[in-house]
This record gives sequence, structure tokens and C-alpha cells, in this order.
Amino acid sequence: MAGNKAIIITGGASGIGREAAYQLAKAGNAIVVADFNEEGAKETAANIEAQGGKAAAFKVDVSKAEEVEAMVDFAVDTFGTLNGLFNNAGIGLVKPLLEMDPASYHKVIDVDQHSVYYGIYYGAKKMVELGAKGTIVNTASIYGSMAAKGSFNYNAAKAAVVMMSKSGALELAEHGIRVVGVAPGFIDTPILGDNEEMKKALSALHMHNQLIQPEKVANVVKFLFSEEASAINGSTVAVDDGFLS
Ligand code: NAI
Repeated sequence: MAGNKAIIITGGASGIGREAAYQLAKAGNAIVVADFNEEGAKETAANIEAQGGKAAAFKVDVSKAEEVEAMVDFAVDTFGTLNGLFNNAGIGLVKPLLEMDPASYHKVIDVDQHSVYYGIYYGAKKMVELGAKGTIVNTASIYGSMAAKGSFNYNAAKAAVVMMSKSGALELAEHGIRVVGVAPGFIDTPILGDNEEMKKALSALHMHNQLIQPEKVANVVKFLFSEEASAINGSTVAVDDGFLS
């Protein structure tokens, strides 16, 4: 399994990112827990350290190129190298297309799409500069390959993430860097909000009629970072309890 690597996880203060941070730390990796929510990132890092793992928190707005570059520098300053990046932070902003004003569109594109470009660009550049091989995992969504009402912005962003994993993999393979994606179904995290009726309806779209726990996505992310996944390159792996099947 993955171990002894320095890995940045964005969105590490909550949900999928937090669970991935716990699992990758448990496997022996040093984790930069990066998030806009600084308190939450610190809490994740503290929990890892309490279990004997290595972690450091970093406040970042992933929609800002210079902050993502600073995050990459922080990882190298803190742990001496960089072997991996989980571009996972994201938001949703649901609105009918006829109300999808430019601000609502750009907000989601900036946080969910441009952040992944910044992470791949600054992360891979640093890894190549250091001669460090590694893996970049990007969080897409089932909505990167199927349309959902009210999600014109999110659909566009996540489809771009699917393609960036392919395109990034193609260009970075020669440097020993794999780029892959994960496409969750409906995961039981705060991003879904607290409308229980809606959650029930979303659960029914899964083969087991329940929301997927974030640990299930983290299991797959940990595997994607490992040597055992060395032949998975450019693909986006669905963790959707059969929704797209
Ligand atoms: P979450 O809301 O629990 O975690 C998202 C994290 O991203 C939060 O800690 C938040 O502070 C952080 N974040 C938001 N904007 C940020 C910014 N500009 N800069 C830095 N950090 C920022 O949600 P979850 O579910 O763990 O989401 C993780 C990823 O999974 C997102 O990319 C989301 O789109 C994706 N996803 C989630 C699904 C779900 O059903 N929960 C389904 C498919 C994809």
C-alpha cells in the first residue's frame, strides 16, 4: 500500500478529503491537510497526529492560483518533498439554467475546475523539479458524465476534471507521474445539505438504496495512490454504488 510519501489533500477539513487524509496517514504518508476552513483542517491534522501520524494544516483557497502554488511550496518546506496531490476541494451551487448568472457559473468553475488545473500545474511542476515521482488524484463526480437539472455549472466543471485527468496523465507519464480521477455517487457529507427528503431520493438512485459513506471513497483514493494501482492512468473510477450502471 501507499506509504512514506508526502501528499497534499485539498478539502481535507471535511467529508471525503478528511477520510482520505486519515487513511493515507494511517498507511504511513505525511499529509498536508489543505482547506479554506482552517479550523477544520487543523482538527484533521491534530487527529492524525494524535494517532501517531504526520500531518500539517494549510489554509488555502483553491480557486486562487497563487494560493495553490504557496500550498505546494508549504508541502515541500514542511516534509522535504512532494509525491502526491488529491485535488478534492469542491462546492455545489444548484440553480436552474435560466437563473445561472455569470457569478453563479464562475464560482463553481473557479472552485471545482480551475483548482484542479492549478493543482496539477503547480504540483507536477514541483514534482518534476524535485525529480519526485508520484500520483495526482482528482475528485470528479458522476455529474462529470451525466447531466443533472440545476447543475449546469457543476456538470461543466466535473466533466472538465474527467478530461484533465486523461490529458494530465498523457503529458506527465514520461515524468513518472500518474494522474487519475475518482467519481463519487451521492456521499454522506455536508455538501449534500440537510434536506432529509432529498437525501432519501438520492439514496434511492444507488443499488443499495443508501448514501455512500465517505470512507468508501477514501478506500478507493488510497488504492489509487498505491503502487498496486500503477496501471490505472488517466481513468476516472466511479464509486457510485452502481448508479451509472
Ligand atoms: P464537503 O463539503 O464535506 O467537503 C468539501 C471541502 O472543500 C470542505 O472542507 C470545504 O471547506 C472545502 N472547500 C470548499 N471550497 C474551497 C476552496 N475554495 N478552497 C479550499 N477548500 C475549499 O464535501 P465532500 O463531499 O467531501 O466533497 C469533496 C469533493 O467530492 C468535492 O469536489 C465534491 O464536488 C465531490 N463530490 C461529492 C459528492 C457528494 O455526494 N458528497 C458527489 C460527487 C462529488
